[in-house]
Amino acid sequence: IRPLRVALLGCGTVGGAVLRLISEQAHDLTARIGRPVEVAGIAVRRPAHHPDVPQHLLTTDAHALVTRDDVDLVVEVIGGIEPARTLILAAFEAGKSVVSANKALLADDGVALHAAAAKSGVDLYYEAAVAGAIPLLRPLRESLAGDQLRRVVGIVNGTTNYILSRMAETGAGFAEALAEATDLGYAEADPTADVDGFDAAAKAAILASLAFHTPVTAADVHREGISSVSATDVARAAEIGCTVKLLAICERVPNGDGDSVAVRVHPAMIPTAHPLASVGGAFNAVFVEAEAAGQLMFYGQGAGGEPTASAVLGDLVAVARNRLAGAAGQGPSGYADLAVRPMAET
Ligand code: HSE
Repeated sequence: IRPLRVALLGCGTVGGAVLRLISEQAHDLTARIGRPVEVAGIAVRRPAHHPDVPQHLLTTDAHALVTRDDVDLVVEVIGGIEPARTLILAAFEAGKSVVSANKALLADDGVALHAAAAKSGVDLYYEAAVAGAIPLLRPLRESLAGDQLRRVVGIVNGTTNYILSRMAETGAGFAEALAEATDLGYAEADPTADVDGFDAAAKAAILASLAFHTPVTAADVHREGISSVSATDVARAAEIGCTVKLLAICERVPNGDGDSVAVRVHPAMIPTAHPLASVGGAFNAVFVEAEAAGQLMFYGQGAGGEPTASAVLGDLVAVARNRLAGAAGQGPSGYADLAVRPMAET
């Protein structure tokens, strides 16, 4: 049986974990897909920085790799807008399905990417782009597609949740808790994307797009970070039985002759009895309210190499099964249900 050959774009924390899991789970993946999975090549910028991976697989020519005839599908874990966008579009043109973990790109350009995938009759899956290991995007897009969602409210950034949790536990101020998060490796050297809410806003845009079947981009999301949350704010919240969390809130709102979607990210006080209040440390959780299903909560590890790689591999199996069945599995993007309104207009 011809193996299913995967091009891996990027070999950082997530890419390295994907590579390791493909090798460690080789037996089970073969059983689950019906064919062995083989890595055809790994595109990186600096091969010398990757002494631990099979050197013959490394290439700096990502474009040549994604368009190679012997590659069946592409896993993109580079992140950022370019060159990821160009490479994904080239993969679609060449008839390859793509699994991506790229929240910034999907939040910016999801509609165009879905359209390009549909035009080529291939798949685009990106479960790892939001909330790492937590199965969330396919449940929103598929399992709940027969229901009417009212609200999706989530803690989708682990760094800020760690900082706010430590402020509540120790009485520390924002700067002190951020320094601790940086020391422990939760926060990146430049924490701007996390603490100012950009990371959560990109994830909120993707969640809203899938939950409400309408195009939402990061630019549509009202955004406020946590850098102005003080120790006093956190203490006052505790006094009235609340906890401060950075929430991504996606809501269906009545809008004259129809409904629209409002999406915002900001620190909020929530009652300690709410399921989201007990989400501590760097964990993520997303609370969904649907007309028929009622309340649902998704909880787990939202970041890290292995948890994120788990989501990537789940997508890889799904895409592989679709390809072997001879069809793209997702069908039309269905981005037509509602109008999107930035929060400022609601
Ligand atoms: N910086 C992100 C977080 C990583 O803290 O949640 C996962 O996207």
